[in-house]
Amino acid sequence: MLNTTAWNRLRYTLYAPVYDAVADRAFRRARRRSLDAVDWAPGQRVLIVGAGTGLDLPYLPRAIELHAGDLCPAMVERFRVRADGLGFDFSVREMDAERLDYPEGHFDVVVMHLILAVMPNPECGLGEAHRVLADDGQLCVMDKFQPDEHRAGWVRRTVNLVTTAIATDITRQAGPLLSNAGFIVERDEAVMMGTLFRALLARKSRAPDR
Ligand SMILES: C[S@@+](CC[C@H](N)C(=O)[O-])C[C@H]1O[C@@H](n2cnc3c(N)ncnc32)[C@H](O)[C@@H]1O
Repeated sequence: MLNTTAWNRLRYTLYAPVYDAVADRAFRRARRRSLDAVDWAPGQRVLIVGAGTGLDLPYLPRAIELHAGDLCPAMVERFRVRADGLGFDFSVREMDAERLDYPEGHFDVVVMHLILAVMPNPECGLGEAHRVLADDGQLCVMDKFQPDEHRAGWVRRTVNLVTTAIATDITRQAGPLLSNAGFIVERDEAVMMGTLFRALLARKSRAPDR
């Protein structure tokens, strides 16, 4: 099935040169609204998971300790160029969201934009985000989700066979995913294309379900 980490590494390596043309302008407002919801403070340690080419960077405060990771070296290189250009003090490296290379409780803020709908196993990515977040840390998510109130119907599940292969899953439900991973959602706002794209801010409630 075309929903594996190996496939994601290959296709995002191919997408990297054209990613900004597709995803910069289209998501500016959604990114800003998502990141504006974070309670920022100087000196916070911030991790961007699946950071892509760094399109979140313009909306981040500068006085933070910034770390970022992505599966694809081609994305990491573009992130590095953008972060340098914007004057960030940062560290970026190739990293799988399912195995974050950081100790427990290390971060004040974890940003996951347009990655939970892409990963084959979002539960695992959220488990890792939970592990590396401090007890009072904030998880900032922006992505496309199926409404929490009802599971995806057959039409959406059929369309999903195609969207998953080339872009993204459209049947995942943010509420159950986050609560099963041990988060409490503090804000949940529709930010684009009706209720398809949502920005959520969550904090840790307890250990995630295993
Ligand atoms: C849709 S793009 C989003 C990029 C960026 N977060 C943004 O908002 O523009 C998905 C990104 O996730 C990365 N990715 C996919 N699977 C990943 C994984 N398992 N670990 C880390 N990054 C991953 C891809 O390489 C790609 O850069």
